[in-house]
Amino acid sequence: GKAGYPHFMLKEIYEQPESLRQTIHGRVDSINSTIELEDFEDGAFTDVDHVQFVSMGTSNHAAMYAAAHLTELGIPADAYMAGEYAEAPRPTTENSLVIAVTQSGETADTLNAIRRANNAGARTLAVTNTVGSSVTRECDESLFIRAGPEIGVAASKTFTSQVIALTLLSECIAEDVNETTNPGRRAMLGELADLPGDIQQVLDETPAEEIADALFGCKSYFFLGRGSARAAALEGALKLKEISYEHAEGFAASELKHGPLALVTEETPVFGVITGEDDLKTVSNLKEVQARGAPVIVVAPASLERDLEFADYFLPIPETHSSIAGVLANIQLQLVSYHIADQLGRPIDKPRNLAKSVTVE
Ligand code: M6R
Repeated sequence: GKAGYPHFMLKEIYEQPESLRQTIHGRVDSINSTIELEDFEDGAFTDVDHVQFVSMGTSNHAAMYAAAHLTELGIPADAYMAGEYAEAPRPTTENSLVIAVTQSGETADTLNAIRRANNAGARTLAVTNTVGSSVTRECDESLFIRAGPEIGVAASKTFTSQVIALTLLSECIAEDVNETTNPGRRAMLGELADLPGDIQQVLDETPAEEIADALFGCKSYFFLGRGSARAAALEGALKLKEISYEHAEGFAASELKHGPLALVTEETPVFGVITGEDDLKTVSNLKEVQARGAPVIVVAPASLERDLEFADYFLPIPETHSSIAGVLANIQLQLVSYHIADQLGRPIDKPRNLAKSVTVE
């Protein structure tokens, strides 16, 4: 049941401290700074020379995160939309690791991409929430995100668990390939241990409902971010369009002046995702849209609130490591989307035309 929540989606949003605890349970030792992922022993990834992610929708946004993280750790990695993978460079050797990211494990585009990778002789790995799903049979190996069942068609808690499971996997891959541990790992794992509590704080203190009340019914909603914050911006827009039926687009903050700015008016609220000081460049993009009358909503670490006083609305996130801050930013955006859709009276758990798993291309 919905355990007293009006929608499964809201229940699943509020489950995230616990579902994330399940994702990391027994896998992370933050005292010794080690990570152990069941079937993957030390050295399991030594031969990997590059990584290709294949996935769709929300899972693709999680994969973008992971690709950025791996690249930062020196491992060549690309996130492909699985439905476009036929045009991607062929993974030619068994040193190519192709990772399917799929909550359901049944997405047709993703399964087809894995078949192509298998035919090319690549090593294939499934990152999924669903034990016994098709993707686990098609891939050589599996890693489970352990988020628990997700009923809402719009993915929420599974995104958070995907991002963190992929972060752990990326650390293991890079450690084996580089034959050394990422010097930033200790700090990151320390913050990861606090992440369930940080999520709880977001849930307890979010101003999302007031912001939704002020903004619902506008013409379009834009979301921008740079670097890994771009994945959160894309995911914010996808969630809003799915459950509210309002027009929403996410794009790279750097792209703003190359076209999207022409759409900006006082009728188009713009959300800016800022996950650390490196993203402060996004501020000038946000001031640009504000000068054109657009309401500006900033999602950023609470410590940056002073630098961001110009914003019309502020969604604070607790201090954490920059590589996991996007999870917290995304939860603020999940809540805003939920409340906008709720104000508009949409059938949040079952949006028209959409299915929980898309089993045809
Ligand atoms: O089950 P999968 O993770 O493979 O699903 C992929 C997409 O169909 C899915 O993320 C879709 O975009 C969701 N409705 C997003 O909320």
